[in-house]
Amino acid sequence: MPLDQTLLKILSNGQFHSGEALGAQLGVTRSAVWKSLQSMQQQGLDIHSVPGRGYKLARPFELLEKNTILEYLDGGSGQLCSGLEIHFEIGSTNRHLMQQARTGLKSGYFCLAEQQLQGRGRRGRDWVSPLGGNIYLSLLWRFAEGPASLAGLSLAAGIAVTRALNVLGITEHGLKWPNDVLWKGKKLAGILLEVAGEATGPCHAVIGIGLNVAMPKEAASAIEQAWVDIESIRPGLGRNRIAAELVHQLLVVLAQFQQSGLSGFVDEWRSLDHFANQEVVLHLPVRKIEGIARSIDEQGSLCLEVEGKVSRYGSGEVSLRGLG
Ligand code: ATP
Ligand code: BTN
Repeated sequence: MPLDQTLLKILSNGQFHSGEALGAQLGVTRSAVWKSLQSMQQQGLDIHSVPGRGYKLARPFELLEKNTILEYLDGGSGQLCSGLEIHFEIGSTNRHLMQQARTGLKSGYFCLAEQQLQGRGRRGRDWVSPLGGNIYLSLLWRFAEGPASLAGLSLAAGIAVTRALNVLGITEHGLKWPNDVLWKGKKLAGILLEVAGEATGPCHAVIGIGLNVAMPKEAASAIEQAWVDIESIRPGLGRNRIAAELVHQLLVVLAQFQQSGLSGFVDEWRSLDHFANQEVVLHLPVRKIEGIARSIDEQGSLCLEVEGKVSRYGSGEVSLRGLG
């Protein structure tokens, strides 16, 4: 296990630890301990250092543990999980699974990371992914049909996230078409769907979810819109429990989506639609259109009413914003 990771494991109890005691426990010098803590601080982790007492995490957090997550899964959904790997540091969990998909991984395979160095959002945007307690998770799923059959998959994934939030006691959340989970209008989670394969099938999808659990203050300054984390809504929830609930709900939703597509999720999605019947502006690649959002159709396309006429839009290169 890398030194950073072992140190974090010890510090995750929230107590002070002297550099000397940490060094002795890990069989390294005090200066190696200091260097490792410094580098984690540079990555945005808030570590308090008090002369005479040592080091402690400003906000202690539970490191992700494979066995703890698997233990939370009940027999039913657990059987749908074909594997789960946890990385301390990775470029992007989505990119990793898109690459690994070529090695024959099966549906239901998860990749999670403590931090991403190149976390990605939609349309080449960055996803702010510091070390310090958020969740970065990707799931691989294979489909017999081609990518056209996956219209609506990222909407179904949004339902999985909101179901997990419900179980965790977090209410007042909503969905912003096509891929954001909001809490009181602020971005709590984002979903990135990537698909590869033959036009007529088979194909595979990687569904990536970034869920803000405890966003370190410094890193947050890079986020260009209103955001929120779980710690500010409902403090003290264990990350392994949150991750397991996400894994569980995603497995249930994906199994249903594979059988019957989006149809079983449309009403639920509409009931969570943050912008339903509100004035919005739709950003298309070359122009903007203002209208009233009329939620989604059976395929998951956005319905926009302009001067009494409703048109439909697929998620591709389209962004929705509230007006006013
Ligand atoms: P749309 O998908 O409709 O264009 P969007 O503006 O949310 O909506 P996305 O591509 O989905 O765009 O997400 C990228 C946006 O999310 C960027 O504005 C970025 O600043 C913001 N962002 C990046 N990291 C985070 C994070 N951890 N939490 C909340 N928002 C983030
Ligand atoms: C968005 O709102 O634009 C989508 C953000 C998706 C972020 C997640 S974090 C896990 C997975 N790996 C990535 O690089 N991106 C997704």
